[in-house]
Amino acid sequence: MSPDIESIRSQFPILGQTVYNKPLVYLDNGATTQKPQSVIDAVADVYVRCNSNIHRGVHRLSNICTEAFEEARRAVARHINAACAHEVIFTRGTTESINLAAFSFGESFCAQGDEIVITAMEHHSNIVPWQMLCERKGMKLRVAPIDANGDLDLEALGRLLNGRTRLVAVAHVSNVMGTVNPVARIVAMAHAAGIPVLVDAAQSAPHLPIDVQALDCDFMAFSGHKMYAPNGIGVLYGKESWLDRMKPYQGGGEMIEKVTFERTTYNVLPFKFEAGTPDYVAAIGLHRAIDFIGSIGLDAIAAHEHRLARAAIERLTAIDGLRLIGTPAQRAGVVSFVIDGIHPYDIGLLLDKMGIAVRTGHHCAEPLIDHFGIAGTVRASFAVYNTMAEVDALAAGVRRVAEMMK
Ligand code: ALA
Repeated sequence: MSPDIESIRSQFPILGQTVYNKPLVYLDNGATTQKPQSVIDAVADVYVRCNSNIHRGVHRLSNICTEAFEEARRAVARHINAACAHEVIFTRGTTESINLAAFSFGESFCAQGDEIVITAMEHHSNIVPWQMLCERKGMKLRVAPIDANGDLDLEALGRLLNGRTRLVAVAHVSNVMGTVNPVARIVAMAHAAGIPVLVDAAQSAPHLPIDVQALDCDFMAFSGHKMYAPNGIGVLYGKESWLDRMKPYQGGGEMIEKVTFERTTYNVLPFKFEAGTPDYVAAIGLHRAIDFIGSIGLDAIAAHEHRLARAAIERLTAIDGLRLIGTPAQRAGVVSFVIDGIHPYDIGLLLDKMGIAVRTGHHCAEPLIDHFGIAGTVRASFAVYNTMAEVDALAAGVRRVAEMMK
């Protein structure tokens, strides 16, 4: 059943505003999503009712917050079908999750001459931490190519896997082109060679049903703020068998079992990887965001966003001189385009004056943008609260810009 978009929109106070006296058309959801009232209320409720540091207090408020934080962890585990809640590590976001994995996995399992395989469509967050690991250890970063449509060349990826490959790190969904990568197949290919796989799910967790056990991925990273939750909270999922054998990422409070000046022993999962006070308020907000997503269902969300993306493509490609960047076989609700002779930044600025928020530039995926030989793209990225009328407004706005700048 199609979701009731008007009732969903009414839960997002920010969407009702005007920008330059025009109704806000917010199409920058790949960068961050807006928050429903239930999430805003949950955050306020902690500060009004029970704020207290977690896992440390013997007192009532600390117990309430600790229980809500751990309940949030269980909610995340259910949401991605993790085998157990202690496979869910709370971080600040996808970037920190991948840095944690790259550091701790690298320190525990990698040595000079080893290789990490990524793809040509990765976000900087899934490039730079691996590059840093390679620099530290004298390792090699190998990059699986994409084809002209923006689909991954699976055969070429397969040819990169060898006895020195320690890990494959791949985006589930490209933040620029919307390409949905066949991660289950990639995991099967890598596992056949005994290689673990990390999935960057920053752009998929808010939009597609995720089942880490069905995918059989070894690690998965995603952010709360792209899935209707507060900023500052993210997740690294890892199979217990890997996390247990990995060294901690940061040292500090809560990640220890026993500290002396001579030697420290570490806490059990997940606390070994959660040094310092985590953003428990944002984690509690993430729980409410997962409830919000669950109240609609990710299948219905994906279908709605897919309809919007298809309509956007149909309307935009009718505009003279407009070219899509990425025409993948399977796409999530992300559409990138350029218009001959007009800088993406100018298009973004003019759309803004019409109340339409899109992202322009390299989208933190410079190697991919270089691959297409362009300065950047204009990107519209959809969320469940977007409407067909907003797609029409985008297409009309882009057409106007194209005519003005002719
Ligand atoms: N990674 C985010 C984006 O694609 C910020 O916009």
